[in-house]
Amino acid sequence: MKICILGSGGREHALAHRLSLDPVVEQIYVVPGNPGMLTTPKVECIPATFEMTSGFVTLIKCLNVDLVIPGPEVPLCEGFADLMKGTSIPVLGPRKEAAKLEGSKAYSKLFMQEFDIPTADFKIFEKAEEACEFLKTRPWGGRLVIKASELQAGKGVVVSDNLEEQLLTVERFMQDPKYPVKSRTLVIEECLPGEELSLFALCDGEEILYLGEARDHKRLLDGDKGPNTGGMGCYTHSSMVDEELQKRLEELVLLPVIQGMKKRGHPFRGFLFAGVMMDGDDIQVLEYNVRLGDPETQTLLPLIKGDLAQTFLSAARGQLKASKSLIFREHAMASVHIVMASENYPGLDGHALSLGHRISCDDALSEHNVKDVSLFYAGVKKEKEYLVNSGGRVLGVTALAPTLAQAQVKAYENLKKVHFVGAQYRKDIAARELNQK
Ligand code: AMP
Ligand code: GLY
Repeated sequence: MKICILGSGGREHALAHRLSLDPVVEQIYVVPGNPGMLTTPKVECIPATFEMTSGFVTLIKCLNVDLVIPGPEVPLCEGFADLMKGTSIPVLGPRKEAAKLEGSKAYSKLFMQEFDIPTADFKIFEKAEEACEFLKTRPWGGRLVIKASELQAGKGVVVSDNLEEQLLTVERFMQDPKYPVKSRTLVIEECLPGEELSLFALCDGEEILYLGEARDHKRLLDGDKGPNTGGMGCYTHSSMVDEELQKRLEELVLLPVIQGMKKRGHPFRGFLFAGVMMDGDDIQVLEYNVRLGDPETQTLLPLIKGDLAQTFLSAARGQLKASKSLIFREHAMASVHIVMASENYPGLDGHALSLGHRISCDDALSEHNVKDVSLFYAGVKKEKEYLVNSGGRVLGVTALAPTLAQAQVKAYENLKKVHFVGAQYRKDIAARELNQK
């Protein structure tokens, strides 16, 4: 089987690496990929940028692959799966209409309301003045969340209990042309207490296969301080969700999406990622994404055993039922993933990232020869014969071990074998959960 993956980050490296372990997979093309991915056998990077054009479709067709897996949401929200309809190549991702579940927060909230999916109370606004009038009434005790409805690369959500900051957020999002977030529609919702969890399912339009859950660390600094990032680390272990809770999550959060989308005439095929807030027994959906998470994929995929490529292909063809038993999660192992980022990441307040530094790494680690440990590359490029850092999140190390504490120690031991000037990483991934025990 030949597979094409769209994207260039750690999530895509983890997908490529895991799929390369399946004997049925002969070749994996990653478009555009990154040169660090070439440490994984069977991988070839195709230096093209994603475009919604027939030329891009022709390029994919020329690769002669059996399956395309888009990593990020943008191609799906822009209609990549629709564009590929005319080819015979299956795409593991939803069409544009179903991808609105991620592409429009207003659509997603109304969908949840229609299909009785538990979610925070909310209101939708098209006019800044009306949103401000509403905020002045101090709804939900004044502590609330303001969200730009459209895709904003993770920058369009503000949690606040301060009226002044809330009014400023509305003005910035809707009226300030210089502000990086530009929004025509706002969702304002009640702020929920609890702990967040990311859930993942593979869907074929009719059925779901629960893949697992993971908890990521979005803040830059230890103790969940500092600015939000794309994710600084992540962990999972089998006692996070037991069989009974998994059944509840499937029934409350995941299956209603498949049923609702089918009812609307837009069957959902691909990865469904639900961000949920858990407060004791209470489960509320914060958001849906129509792709795998980054860095959740780097954490979860190494635990999934069996014929993954065949299962992905079956889902993309709408035939998941027959392949459901081909894969299983390794329940005896916990997984910890730690991200190493460039100096000044995430680059707020005009501080430029410090880039172009040579990455040195223990050979066995970089060649994937340390048992139960994987190194996944993200923001890297090649200069002469060396890899140098070229983006915010540069790489990450995943370690598997029988307990969460052991996986944490192993992940840090191995991450310390990687060096580049200005490298930063959190020292407390999974620590809060370990300290609670
Ligand atoms: P979203 O993109 O909708 O998942 O929001 C981004 C982040 O904002 C989430 O991961 C949460 O940390 C936070 N957030 C979003 N909605 C809520 C909510 N209703 N209550 C509390 N925190 C929220
Ligand atoms: N880790 C969160 C995301 O991928 O959106």
